[in-house]
Amino acid sequence: MQKQGLFTAGILVVWTCWQAVAGTVWLDELDLSKVQQDWGRPHRNQSVEGHPLRIAGKTYQRGLGTHAESVLYLDLNQQAERFIAYVGVDDEVGRAPASVEFELIGDGKILWQSGIMRTGQPAKLVDVSLKGIRQLILHVTDGGDGINYDHADWVMARFMMASGRPRVLSAPKEEPYILTPKPPRTPQIHGPRVIGCRPGHPFLYRIPATGLRPMRFAAFGLPKGLKLDPQTGIITGRIPERGSYPVRLRAKNAYGTDERVLTIRCGDTIALTPPMGWNSWNCFAGSVTAEKVLSAAKAMVESGLADHGWTYINIDDFWTKKPGAKDPTLGGPGRDAQGRIVPNLRFPDMKGLCDAIHRLGLKVGIYSSPGPYTCGGCLGSFDHEFQDAKQFAAWGIDYLKYDWCSYRPELEKKRTRPAEFGRWAQAWEDPKFADRKPFMVPYALMRHALDQVDRDIVYSLCQYGMAKVWEWGARVGGNCWRTTGDIRDTWGSMSSIGFGQAGHEKYAGPGHWNDPDMLVVGKVGWGPHLRPTRLTPNEQYTHISLWCLLSAPLLLGCDLTQLDEFTLNLLTNDEVLEVNQDPLGRQASRIAKNGGLEVWAKPMQDGSFAVGLFNRTIMPQTVRVQWTQLGLKKGPHRVRDLWRQKDLGMFEEGFSSMVPPHGVRLIRVW
Ligand code: GAL
Repeated sequence: MQKQGLFTAGILVVWTCWQAVAGTVWLDELDLSKVQQDWGRPHRNQSVEGHPLRIAGKTYQRGLGTHAESVLYLDLNQQAERFIAYVGVDDEVGRAPASVEFELIGDGKILWQSGIMRTGQPAKLVDVSLKGIRQLILHVTDGGDGINYDHADWVMARFMMASGRPRVLSAPKEEPYILTPKPPRTPQIHGPRVIGCRPGHPFLYRIPATGLRPMRFAAFGLPKGLKLDPQTGIITGRIPERGSYPVRLRAKNAYGTDERVLTIRCGDTIALTPPMGWNSWNCFAGSVTAEKVLSAAKAMVESGLADHGWTYINIDDFWTKKPGAKDPTLGGPGRDAQGRIVPNLRFPDMKGLCDAIHRLGLKVGIYSSPGPYTCGGCLGSFDHEFQDAKQFAAWGIDYLKYDWCSYRPELEKKRTRPAEFGRWAQAWEDPKFADRKPFMVPYALMRHALDQVDRDIVYSLCQYGMAKVWEWGARVGGNCWRTTGDIRDTWGSMSSIGFGQAGHEKYAGPGHWNDPDMLVVGKVGWGPHLRPTRLTPNEQYTHISLWCLLSAPLLLGCDLTQLDEFTLNLLTNDEVLEVNQDPLGRQASRIAKNGGLEVWAKPMQDGSFAVGLFNRTIMPQTVRVQWTQLGLKKGPHRVRDLWRQKDLGMFEEGFSSMVPPHGVRLIRVW
């Protein structure tokens, strides 16, 4: 008995020692639930969509099927000898144009990179020494062009261990950190320095100002037709005559006075700076109601956002009847006997809602489609464009998002009356645009309809960038146009959209802006259930900085009634917002790119530059800009940190800074 016991113990010791000395540990034996990826779920021994792992026609028994952007953190405890695997794009994407890059990062250093790998490319061998490495990251990037189709496989992947096993770690959690200093109690006037309107149309402007209330406002040089409410700072009226009117605004409270000049340009162009406000889609989507919209408007004022220039309250899809919907609140007549649009039961008094929002000094936006139905299957404006424009104006709508959705060019042929485009028909006369006419027609038609009404309505084209809309959006009278598909609150989505705007800058300017979609900070969720954005704090600083540099419309997609301190701080930095609202209206261009490190610069009206130093990698990195890259001569230039609102000093040749993973340093250079 005893002998047998000793024998068993002996075997156990040998077995344990063998385990400790050397061994192969397969990646697919580890806890893969902690793999972070921007689409789908990680799969053991299968592709991200659950098929056998297959790269360039070859099937592999084991490995990890993931999707860019993908990160797995491992603790190796200096016990690993080598990592061996093959990597590539999974064949399940068919012929779709995937591009990814695999990399191994050991203790903060890149140990190995695959280079960009594309659809159909044979698997690449990874065989890397891991001697002495404590922490290893298996990382798959989107190859710099967005995550679409980026199905990425690590196959036959294994660790040769001197002893022990790799331990899967949770991704490090980033704590929110606040950079924007609190505004002083003395008055400070913010917002755009120029605003456009059209002669004879209703005018509304709430002077954005921080500082303790009560506050009294004054405006010197107001053009004829406008009046100011000194208590609220709301300017209303109509300017009969065209002209450029410099108005000196004044805000005064018990602690001091502030003044600034606002130029009101009464002419043909509105949206002289990018529109700033809120839209219901990214938070409420199909669950929007009039109450939620009004609460958003009230929260815009009560949270203080309106004091920094946030203005529009935009209702997205789901305010019209949805034929066949189970939810009775989406019902109603749809249109009345004359064909006028009637909101669904969730919006019983659209005029009343618009009036209430206007009384707060804010503006109202609405949503429709040139097709018979919106993307959510609710009624659109097809064949009722002129009626709808008139109705929008009668309610007091200030912004229209016009979303392609069910529109098909063949629909035009079914029209019973000839299409009316007014002067916008010239848009496709230029042979360069002739083949894009089918894309331009529905937008020119609604433009012409909007021209007939007695109201300034910002016209936002939404068709996800088809037919290079940036090249012709302004030709059909768009004030902004979506350049991409819908944004989501992931790093992959936000960063590929944002950084993908390079090259569009020459199409943006006062009155016509590229729109890379709405903001995904704060509580979002596209439905009744909301959650905090999945972007990390660094990613959120990147998001806001980049959208400001891009002169993008800034439309918050979060629930304004649930703003936390971090989000509010992120959205109320006046020096950052000023980058977006600069009157020159130039969009930033990418002036340098070195792997995942990018420098974007935006020329400002006063001759300075707003510069974003971005780090798209997952390790802290130094990013630098040389003054010559900005077209500036050497010699000392003043640099200011815009998030911290702090001067950093004079710099001779350029500026460099350590930038956190997925983070940014936003500076202004004079
Ligand atoms: C999409 C649009 C979104 C949202 C949605 C409404 O096409 O891009 O921003 O408006 O439709 O259904």
